[in-house]
Amino acid sequence: MEVIIVEDEEQVGKLAAQEIARLIRRKPNCVLGLATGSTPIPCYKELIRLHQKEGLDFSRVTTFNLDEYYPIDPRHEQSYRYFMNVNLFDHLNIDKARTFVPDGMAPDPYDHCKWYEEQIKLAGGIDLQILGIGHNGHIAFNEPGSSLASRTRVKTLTEETIRANSRFFERPEDVPRYAITMGIGTILEARKIVLLATGAGKAEAIRRSIEGPVTSMCPASALQLHPRVTYLIDEAAASRLEQKEYYKYVYQMAEQLKKKILAIV
Ligand code: F6R
Repeated sequence: MEVIIVEDEEQVGKLAAQEIARLIRRKPNCVLGLATGSTPIPCYKELIRLHQKEGLDFSRVTTFNLDEYYPIDPRHEQSYRYFMNVNLFDHLNIDKARTFVPDGMAPDPYDHCKWYEEQIKLAGGIDLQILGIGHNGHIAFNEPGSSLASRTRVKTLTEETIRANSRFFERPEDVPRYAITMGIGTILEARKIVLLATGAGKAEAIRRSIEGPVTSMCPASALQLHPRVTYLIDEAAASRLEQKEYYKYVYQMAEQLKKKILAIV
């Protein structure tokens, strides 16, 4: 696992966007896995800037979002489809037909989950998955107790998640009680994973995810089983890591080595 600790959320956003941009330049028809929530917003802002100012071309990119409330109308301001359009897709030259978000209005949500998995396979799998993390260690809507081998499915949201998300709805009763979410097994099939976390509120979840045991009680800890995971986090989110100084040292050494190799080539 690679742990990159930077000063603040702006830096987290910039580095994440640079990683995505590098992939798009290397593989213009790449497949991205995307997340909603407040954490990736600086990254999406930077991607929009890279597109508008530096011509980053999204015309052949395919995206799959992690999750969506159920039931919810995609036109609802709190739907994840709406969030992605407003915060990213509407500002890029991306073909919306290639931006997949689980359908909050699917007549048969169970069938839809199977369809979603098939679309990921048909697209050739996810090259780079961006993740956020919940205070309880959830990734996507895989709440504590989720099977570490789970696939895209319908989940019942926990009271904690409903409470956390109720700030975005007019009344707490309006928060949908279900979600369609990629499973942990689905996420682990991405070729590369970058988890973003900012703020002291995420420090305990980050500690459990990186340094705790692999357990379904902290779904993000399953990332320890993936060979190519980067944690891109700010100082506040890193504040409870026991090995924080070591991760910083490793990152500096890796950067130095990259420079040396470039100087030799
Ligand atoms: C959203 C998602 C969630 C969030 C997590 C953190 O698509 O999958 O797991 O990543 O709840 O949310 P924020 O970034 O708002 O703290």
